[in-house]
Amino acid sequence: MITSSAPGKIFLFGEHAVVYGKTAIACAIDLRAHVTVEEAPTVQMKGPGGSVDLNPRKHPYIYSVVEKFKGFTDVTGVNIDIHSDIPVGSGLGSSAAVTIATIKALDAYYGTNLTLEDIAHMGHQVESEVQGRASPTDTFVSTFGGMVQIPDRKKLGFYDMLIVIGNTGKFSSTRKIVSNVAALKERHPIVIGQIMDTISAISETGIEFIQEGDFHTVGELMNINQGLLDSIGVGSKELSELVYASRKAGALGSKITGAGGGGCMIALCEHKNLSRVAHAIKRAGGDSFICRTSHVGVRIESK
Ligand code: MEV
Repeated sequence: MITSSAPGKIFLFGEHAVVYGKTAIACAIDLRAHVTVEEAPTVQMKGPGGSVDLNPRKHPYIYSVVEKFKGFTDVTGVNIDIHSDIPVGSGLGSSAAVTIATIKALDAYYGTNLTLEDIAHMGHQVESEVQGRASPTDTFVSTFGGMVQIPDRKKLGFYDMLIVIGNTGKFSSTRKIVSNVAALKERHPIVIGQIMDTISAISETGIEFIQEGDFHTVGELMNINQGLLDSIGVGSKELSELVYASRKAGALGSKITGAGGGGCMIALCEHKNLSRVAHAIKRAGGDSFICRTSHVGVRIESK
């Protein structure tokens, strides 16, 4: 029996701007997906009612991973069991974490010696096949962990940051929101282009202040980034309520993470305010999780 795990991620700065080649900062968090594999008569998934044979409609990510393995190794029967701390469909990279952890577990099980680059690449292929279009950020961060500058995928040093995640619980389609922003940019190319440039400048300035450990200024920059995300129409009443509640409770800064429209926001906090901020987000109608940034990418937990 082999268990692997891989992290979810947040955007500290720069979502949406990165779609236009501008700078963003993504970071792994200590919420993880765990995948356990063990010998079985067929390729199957463990579910609440027992194990069932792998089904491309019910388990599209895992099915696609197994199909890829069939391309270069002899896939014998295996039971795959998934447990994840990462809320699904909320912009925290839950599908990427499950995909990457599954690839790592099967790699160890079949002894295929994939490199981290191979794992990230396969993960991105799987996400693209299942979702139609997928950003390579989620699978890259989930594989390598830590803080990453994108689109260049430059690993930055690791900085321990305390974050409260607020989940609106509202589903939003990344594809639709990205296309709404593209339409807005077409109508106002100069205005929106300059907003994207400013978001990029915020990411670049943010890196310097993260590296200096000046989290008050990082928080201030997150608030500016949030204003610009609102200006391109990716905010929502629910997200704003969580953002303002967290700031009132003492967060250093807070903003949407991911595509917006629903999903999650993040609040950067000092230790003394963590639980106050988490409670404030709950009172404002969100689910809240206290977490921290993490340097740990995909790994084997036990063999
Ligand atoms: C979505 O998680 C982040 C976006 O920047 C889209 C992308 O990077 O592909 C909105």
